[in-house]
Amino acid sequence: MAPERQSYRAPRGIRDVLPEEIPLWEELEGTARRLARLGGYREIRPALLEETDLFTRSVGEVTDIVEKEMFTLRRGDSSYSLRPEGTAGIARAYLQAGYAKTAPVQRLFHIGPMFRYERPQKGRERMFTQFDVEALGSLDPRLDAEVIDLAASFFEALGLEGLEVRLGSMGDGEDRDRFRAAVREYVGDRLAEYSELSQERFERNVLRILDSKHPGDVELNRGAPRMLDHLSAENREHFEKVTELLGGLGRRVVVDATIVRGLDYYTRTVFEVHYPELGARSALCGGGRYDHLIRDLGGPDLGAVGFAIGFTPTLIALEQLGLTPRIQEIPPEVFLVCADEELSQRAFRLAHQLRSNGISCVYDTEGRGLKSQMKQAGRGGHPVALILGSDEAARGTVQLKDLTRKEQNEVPEDGLLEALQRVLGSAPQG
Ligand code: HAM
Repeated sequence: MAPERQSYRAPRGIRDVLPEEIPLWEELEGTARRLARLGGYREIRPALLEETDLFTRSVGEVTDIVEKEMFTLRRGDSSYSLRPEGTAGIARAYLQAGYAKTAPVQRLFHIGPMFRYERPQKGRERMFTQFDVEALGSLDPRLDAEVIDLAASFFEALGLEGLEVRLGSMGDGEDRDRFRAAVREYVGDRLAEYSELSQERFERNVLRILDSKHPGDVELNRGAPRMLDHLSAENREHFEKVTELLGGLGRRVVVDATIVRGLDYYTRTVFEVHYPELGARSALCGGGRYDHLIRDLGGPDLGAVGFAIGFTPTLIALEQLGLTPRIQEIPPEVFLVCADEELSQRAFRLAHQLRSNGISCVYDTEGRGLKSQMKQAGRGGHPVALILGSDEAARGTVQLKDLTRKEQNEVPEDGLLEALQRVLGSAPQG
């Protein structure tokens, strides 16, 4: 028999968000929700687990995500995967809900965990949270500019400056075919010099080679053809419109012909937001158009554009710049101090009564003495301590101590709620 385990840790690359960190996470989530709602984006909570085939079809069979990074489980004849990203599931949910027919233009957002079996490193985890924004059902270039503006506003709202918005285009249809042919020719002439993985991908998905992280490939790719030089007149016009709209908002973007993105569904606009100090994996946000994904999943051929922001890289950037908001946890409003063991049931009932009336409270469960409980109340940052003593119990009262102002009054139990509300309502902020 295997020896008994002494301890357990979360799997590698997966971490818990502890209560102390929740205020910070709520700040990120709250900022994301507030800005998304200002743009009319509605929250969606798509499935965490999808049929594996959904990702193979959308993200692409020959991509790092699908080939190497999915957490897949099999049940009977079915194969399911934890979502490695949000777009595919949101497009699937959009179709399943019938929006393509009933209300094709949908502005949606989601905040939640994604799973990729990547090598854990700074800013890269195997379970990570994304703020995902998707505008589905339209080809309007204003939506491209709108989502880019929303992504940039999110970082600005957190005080993050010095970020770089890089914009490119992946083309679509014929110009993409011409570009693919040009890349085939370029890579084909040097195939033996490319990494083994890129050689394998040459026949199956030559454009993926441009996204290779292999240092030798990166060097070779510097001379490769660029999509922006192959854009059709129509797609160039769309690209220029997006740049112009962003310029009109005073947003500076860097045109980057080398953006390829790691997912296959993109058409036309692609963009990334980088915090250059983070080095090789400096992207805090990635996104773009995916005009045929809805069709590829069995729906009509409708346009769509969106992005996802990673919370972990965002938090690292905030930390490095000393901008992490220091938000205190809010402790329960009342600490119930029970001076006499015999009154513990009464304290228990009082806690229930306070909570039923919307007042948060806690009490000691470790059998501490009066003094120690008072200390605990003070250290815990609770604004009020209610002290239940036997003399007071006989008089039908409790002692109410305002721990902020250091004032104590004896109040009758039947007037307790009002007295508490007065003290809590007028507690000094901060
Ligand atoms: P993505 O570029 O794969 O795009 O991911 C977007 C962002 O998620 C990245 O820029 C990064 O901040 C964060 N991220 C990705 N992988 C990890 C990881 N292992 N650990 C921590 N953060 C990570 C997408 O996922 C697309 N679905 C974006 C999109 C939405 N395109 C259109 N709509």
